[in-house]
Amino acid sequence: SSTRTGSTAALTQPEVRKGLVGVVADVTAVSKVDPDTNSLLYRGYPVQDLAGSKTFEEVAYLLWHGELPTPDELAVQNRAERGRRGLPDPVRDAVLALPTTCHPMDVCRTAVSVIGAHDPEAEDPGPAAEQEKAERLFALLPAVVALDQRRRRGLDLVEPRDDLGYAANFLWMAFGEEQAPEVVRAFEVSMVLYAEHSFNASTFTARVVTSTLADLYSAVTAAIGTLKGPLHGGANEAVMAAFEEIGTADRAAAWLDDALGAKRKIMGFGHRVYKRGDSRVPSMKATLDDLVEHYDRPDLGELYDALAGAMAERKNILPNLDYPAGPAYHLMGFDTQMFTPLFVASRVVGWTAHVMEQRADNALIRPLSRYVGPARREVP
Ligand code: ACO
Repeated sequence: SSTRTGSTAALTQPEVRKGLVGVVADVTAVSKVDPDTNSLLYRGYPVQDLAGSKTFEEVAYLLWHGELPTPDELAVQNRAERGRRGLPDPVRDAVLALPTTCHPMDVCRTAVSVIGAHDPEAEDPGPAAEQEKAERLFALLPAVVALDQRRRRGLDLVEPRDDLGYAANFLWMAFGEEQAPEVVRAFEVSMVLYAEHSFNASTFTARVVTSTLADLYSAVTAAIGTLKGPLHGGANEAVMAAFEEIGTADRAAAWLDDALGAKRKIMGFGHRVYKRGDSRVPSMKATLDDLVEHYDRPDLGELYDALAGAMAERKNILPNLDYPAGPAYHLMGFDTQMFTPLFVASRVVGWTAHVMEQRADNALIRPLSRYVGPARREVP
């Protein structure tokens, strides 16, 4: 188990670990990232096996409860989720009141805050109330993201359909049309792959907020702010922006040389933990390949390969999940700015599983710093 004995006295000459690189901050039973074997396990199950055979609802149950659901347990969770899909009026009004000039991540962050403010159980830290809040956000975020995309396109809200699973209903609300089974499956795979990734920056943020005994909605709101940045979730949008800048596969190598020459970070490549490839990429790349075929867009597949090949050759840096996810969401018809909110709708499962784990065995997260400012001096 974790140690709570580190006294500040024993740390008078602490080593500074900038960016907390290599620091093990606590234990977790939610997921295991193993860069040596290039694997990611959700509660012990390889993520690529879950992505290949389970629905996002089943994976959510697994992450929250530690085991895959029985058919009855899944039916209970699905019934509750389908019953909560419609946006309450204050949430819908809050989304519609925000300017379309703001980033959709600001809309997500605000919507979660409003959902929390209207929940009479927001301050109840009991496990049953926490689980209900997690499931409420899980059910409502698709409606928030779908409405936001539609209003930006000048379109009206599409009501949810309770005869569809999570992924199919999400696409239905976003586009107002049923999507082909291959597209629904591709979207579901992306949701499963994005759902959880141990102590990444946004999950750690959610745990820091929870460690102060603040409520779950505050933790998720803060996590959304953290995910927004292009070094984290915002990278899936930046990948698409780069694809648009490059245009065609034959221009990828020259574009990369210019970008690297200008010391730009290439979004969708590299990872703090994985140095030999992101374990989620093969599943998402196979899914992107299916979409490229479904939408008959071989040009996008060629551009993907050309940039990845040039990056491997020049820098030996491999793609992360955002690299195939960006163009996949583009092919499905989402606007580029909506890609990170899609990540939110998925990762809210991981965040809330960590909030509940943190709450169950809490210690205030409060690191130290080494002071490098002026020595003590008199106020003139
Ligand atoms: N483009 C260009 N160079 C890179 C990239 C990149 N994407 N990633 C790493 N490098 C270089 C660094 O500049 C550094 O070079 P140097 O030693 O010459 O200074 C070297 O590779 C080592 O990288 P670090 O900066 O130590 O890697 P770190 O662990 O700090 O960063 C990070 C990881 C932030 C993800 C980085 O790879 C990056 O900025 N990538 C682009 C953003 C991105 O795709 N984020 C998504 C993360 S995954 C997710 O949220 C699903």
